[in-house]
Amino acid sequence: MTKDKLKIPNHVAIILDGNGRWAQEKNMTRSEGHWHGFNNLETLSDYIFEKGVKILSVYAFSTENFKRSKTEVNYLMHLFSEGFKRYSKRLAKKNVKIVFSGRRDPLPKKVLKIMDKVTEDTKNNTDCIFNICVNYGGQYEILDAVKKVVNDIKEDKIKEEDLDLDMLNHYMYQDLAPVDLMIRTSGEHRLSNFLLWQNAYAEFYFPKTYFPAFDEKEFDKAIVEYNQRNRRFGGINYENENS
Ligand code: IPE
Ligand code: IPE
Ligand code: MG
Repeated sequence: MTKDKLKIPNHVAIILDGNGRWAQEKNMTRSEGHWHGFNNLETLSDYIFEKGVKILSVYAFSTENFKRSKTEVNYLMHLFSEGFKRYSKRLAKKNVKIVFSGRRDPLPKKVLKIMDKVTEDTKNNTDCIFNICVNYGGQYEILDAVKKVVNDIKEDKIKEEDLDLDMLNHYMYQDLAPVDLMIRTSGEHRLSNFLLWQNAYAEFYFPKTYFPAFDEKEFDKAIVEYNQRNRRFGGINYENENS
């Protein structure tokens, strides 16, 4: 199969993992690892959209990451408030809409302000969506959706009998198409509460590479691997069977 014939997944999700271990191996601080990871995401996301991916979701900070030291959490918040501004300027030129998924509380006001500005500044961009998950937890996302549904039923905005999978998807933080390819860098084989609803039929890919070193070539390998998967969605792909 030639390279340009490869199928490109519509929605790619990445768990940006391994910044700390990458830094440790290089005798750097964890913060330096995050800094390199964040810079890598800036150029890698360009490449991913150029390849034809329409939706890119990234796990930047989980609800559970608040358990980390104050120094590490503060550094990450600082990185987000500086970095998202930079991302927004770059992606605005490429017609990419930036959206954020996650709970607002207890994110610092400064970070929320930047997130709101970036959302506003890119809201009319139509080519691609960059979904940045900050203070995100998949179980909380489902819980928050259920609460909104219950409330809307109570207020007669929707009827219980009309509720179906599409409508429930609409109640998630973002109304996005399902994930096709889910990548977790650093060799861990778990979801750590990421996009539980959206990953229902995603193909999973677990490279050993730490995120700061996960470059364009590594992403290309993920696409090649994705093309070797046989997605059946519970049915049977009769083209591949001797019937
Ligand atoms: C991922 O890298 C970034 C965040 C969770 C914010 P880690 O910080 O988890 O790096 P490791 O897993 O400790 O190497
Ligand atoms: C998941 O990575 C969260 C992000 C990458 C933002 P973690 O490093 O927090 O996950 P665990 O603790 O190894 O499961
Ligand atoms: Mg980790």
